[in-house]
Amino acid sequence: MPLSQPAPNQPTLSVLAKPARDLDWLILGLGDDGIVGLDAARSRTFKKTFGQTVDALAADLGARTERGRTTGLPSLDGCRLLIVGLGTEDPTPEQLRRLSGDAIRAVGSLRAEQAEPAKIGFSLGVSEPEQVLAIAEGALIGGYNYTGVSAKDAPTAPVAEIAVITSLRDASLARVAQARATAIVAAREWINIPPNFLYPETFAQAAKDYLAKTKVKVEVLDDEELAKLGYGGLTGVGAGSARKPRLVRMTYRPRGAKQHLALIGKGITFDSGGLNIKPGNSMLTMKSDMSGAAAVIAAVGAIAECGITTDVTAYAAMAENLPSSTAYRPSDVLSIYGGTTVENMNSDAEGRLVMADALARSVEDKPDLIVDIATLTGACLVALGLRTAGLLSSDEATSQRVLDAAETSGEGFWPLPIPEEIAEDLESKVADLRSTGGSRYAGTSAAAAFLQRFVPDQNWAHLDIAGPAFHEGSAYGYVTPGGTGFGVRTLIDLAQSMS
Ligand code: BES
Ligand code: MN
Ligand code: ZN
Repeated sequence: MPLSQPAPNQPTLSVLAKPARDLDWLILGLGDDGIVGLDAARSRTFKKTFGQTVDALAADLGARTERGRTTGLPSLDGCRLLIVGLGTEDPTPEQLRRLSGDAIRAVGSLRAEQAEPAKIGFSLGVSEPEQVLAIAEGALIGGYNYTGVSAKDAPTAPVAEIAVITSLRDASLARVAQARATAIVAAREWINIPPNFLYPETFAQAAKDYLAKTKVKVEVLDDEELAKLGYGGLTGVGAGSARKPRLVRMTYRPRGAKQHLALIGKGITFDSGGLNIKPGNSMLTMKSDMSGAAAVIAAVGAIAECGITTDVTAYAAMAENLPSSTAYRPSDVLSIYGGTTVENMNSDAEGRLVMADALARSVEDKPDLIVDIATLTGACLVALGLRTAGLLSSDEATSQRVLDAAETSGEGFWPLPIPEEIAEDLESKVADLRSTGGSRYAGTSAAAAFLQRFVPDQNWAHLDIAGPAFHEGSAYGYVTPGGTGFGVRTLIDLAQSMS
């Protein structure tokens, strides 16, 4: 059953052997060997109409092979043509994903304002499944645009339909690509919704709605149940807000699964820093502090929708971090699920506390692999910048598993260590451990060392997506402003690799 999409009016996808008659736009590739993707009949019509070949006219108009560069051509039989550069070598799937994102936005900017939603074909001469998937994904998510909260009517969607034209016959491709794109767009939408609309209670409900028609079972623990069951991380971090915490547990149990994957996402719907309040500028993007939870919810939906045969148990740990007379304090000692006590050093190090609760709970499910994903540390931006996520893990083999999935997905991860002396620095005089170390260095490693205490003897990987989860500039490739949906593809591909 299809996923219900929080962002309405997303384009539908088809995979076709030939361009349909009613396409408004046809996107062709330009590589070293000239233009690819225009069939013989259309090439003849082109020459008859314009008195020269499509290659000749494109050259006259300055079309170039530079990857992602677009050039508009005149209409042929009522269908506008757009050339996109493929680069001088065969593009990789990730390069195709990026250039189809660039192309879809070029169509948007070339179109007249109040035109009907367009039907757009991509004919780039591809015949491999991963190429078709990549073009479809890039096109479906590259045109995403958060429409915001407004008294005005929602703008009409610019793109109604995307068709990938390929000689490859595989009926499942369109469904897989649509499920993956739907997941990424859902994650983006949840990240972009303002935090006064999306908070733990409404976010948990959104997860339920999104997964309602899938084979994923959703259970939600509310604040009272969390307190009763000993989830002191979520209860403590959420104490300062009138919007109470939630823990969402999602289980997917397909027939024939060989392995069991646990996914845990950080769902801080707004991170003010709490009593250790952040300066105003650092707070501005903190509605995105639930990007890990968004990725996990979105991914489990796509995993089910694609029928991947891996057991998945996912947790989204949701709370809002605000200062108030009921807020948790530096020096408070919290009891994490399972009883381990933590001396809180800084209320802005809230993510690791809610993650600890969910990680400790997930161990009880006895998964083969635990992967958590969180916008956890500003230090990760210092280390790796805005487009690369940190990867920290229990062992080399686990790290390699995640890197292999990331390679397939096209998302950038880079391994960072968890040095022994940094783990030892978490000792506390008043509790089993403290939430931060004494040093201002290696903050990403210190946070990972903290998390690892709650998954002893487990195959575990921690993905710090503080950099790439949210994009503040203008669109590039398939990345659009605001929430990016980073991590969704790697989590899906990881589940796939375990099937
Ligand atoms: N949500 C932030 C991390 C973050 C910062 C994500 C910038 C995205 C962009 C996290 O809760 C946080 O505040 N971490 C602190 C930890 C410190 C107090 C030990 C940080 O990184 O400064
Ligand atoms: Mn924080
Ligand atoms: Zn945070």
